[in-house]
Amino acid sequence: MKFIVTGGAGFIGSALVRYLLKETEHEVLCLDALTYAGNLANLKEVEGNSRYRFVQADIKDETGIRAIVTDFQPDYIMNLAAESHVDRSILGPLEFIQTNIIGTYVMLQVALEYWQSLPEEKAAKFRYHQISTDEVFGSLGAEGLFTETTRYKPNSPYSASKASADHLVRAWNKTYQLPTILTNCSNNYGPYHFPEKLIPLVILNALNGKSLPIYGDGSQVRDWLYVDDHARALYLAVTKGTVGESYNIGGNAEQRNIDLVRQICATLDELVPQAQSYSELITFVKDRPGHDQRYAIDASKIKRELGWEPSETISTGLRKTVQWYLANQDWVTQVTSGEYRNWVDKQYS
Ligand code: NAD
Ligand code: DAU
Repeated sequence: MKFIVTGGAGFIGSALVRYLLKETEHEVLCLDALTYAGNLANLKEVEGNSRYRFVQADIKDETGIRAIVTDFQPDYIMNLAAESHVDRSILGPLEFIQTNIIGTYVMLQVALEYWQSLPEEKAAKFRYHQISTDEVFGSLGAEGLFTETTRYKPNSPYSASKASADHLVRAWNKTYQLPTILTNCSNNYGPYHFPEKLIPLVILNALNGKSLPIYGDGSQVRDWLYVDDHARALYLAVTKGTVGESYNIGGNAEQRNIDLVRQICATLDELVPQAQSYSELITFVKDRPGHDQRYAIDASKIKRELGWEPSETISTGLRKTVQWYLANQDWVTQVTSGEYRNWVDKQYS
């Protein structure tokens, strides 16, 4: 089978591309605009694979996307390309509206025309898979879990743009019968995670003796999933999921931010001991505007229907992640140079 993975040079997309090439026999076309978050170094392990090819393209470019899809003739299109960082969406939402909403519209429209042109047998197998987030459901209180029927209530420009995209996906399925699958996942972590996000930021700042910024009081809760577990779930969802359905994916690993950061510090204290604990670097800073208090996923549907559950716990996954960053300093040096420098000292005022 032939897969197009958009955003394949990003954090989750590259994990998915590596998974498809290592664990299956399929062909993969990785399509990515290579924004600040996209990096071909994430795909070094697979670049010589004869079943892999890369095309630099923007999902907002309808003509370009149409030419790529027509030429490659995919069985599956998995749309991961997006602007993904909540803080950036607060400080500059336009790019999020353009890529996450208009870009998804382009992908859907091209996928629809392509699917309608296919012979019956190939059309019956074709799937368009939109990769979304639990943030579309808004914020939970102390109790409860997000299910597939939880009402959408996005709070940030990022989550509102992802929610808009999900609504377009639903409409293209209901109105035009495009065979779609939607997945909504919780916070991922693991190798190749861009260091604007909490876990890699804390690991790298700690190793550089810099402060570890905790927004607000650190009581916010996220449900953490190791990225390779997500890649496996995405493959199952697109190949075995029911058309028109959505699946929640989560790690069953809720952590308060402050506890998570302390756990990273404890792992570093053990692996790279210094005179003082890394936790001395923790600094409470101004809160993120509209900061969602708690996310937690009920992943029972994907477990029941597709047999998926996470294989890593937060402690096994965090340890592997810290070890990966320690062993991959070249990657770190590459991504922390260039454009990323402009972001490093951002603060909410
Ligand atoms: P990322 O920021 O690491 O990667 C995004 C990739 O998309 C980059 O390679 C970038 O170059 C590419 N891209 C951006 N704009 C593009 C455009 N216009 N055309 C083509 N490519 C473009 O993001 P990620 O964390 O890997 O997230 C991937 C997807 O998964 C996103 O859709 C995100 O909303 C979703 N998601 C992320 C998480 C998470 O915890 N990171 C959780 C749930 C869902
Ligand atoms: O829930 C899924 C979402 O998880 C994805 O859709 C997003 O693409 C992904 O970026 C992630 O969003 P979060 O905002 O939850 O992740 P982030 O790593 O930015 O922040 C995690 C928590 O840590 C959040 O409560 C904010 C807090 N935080 C973050 C940073 C960067 C801090 O306290 N300090 C920081 O410096």
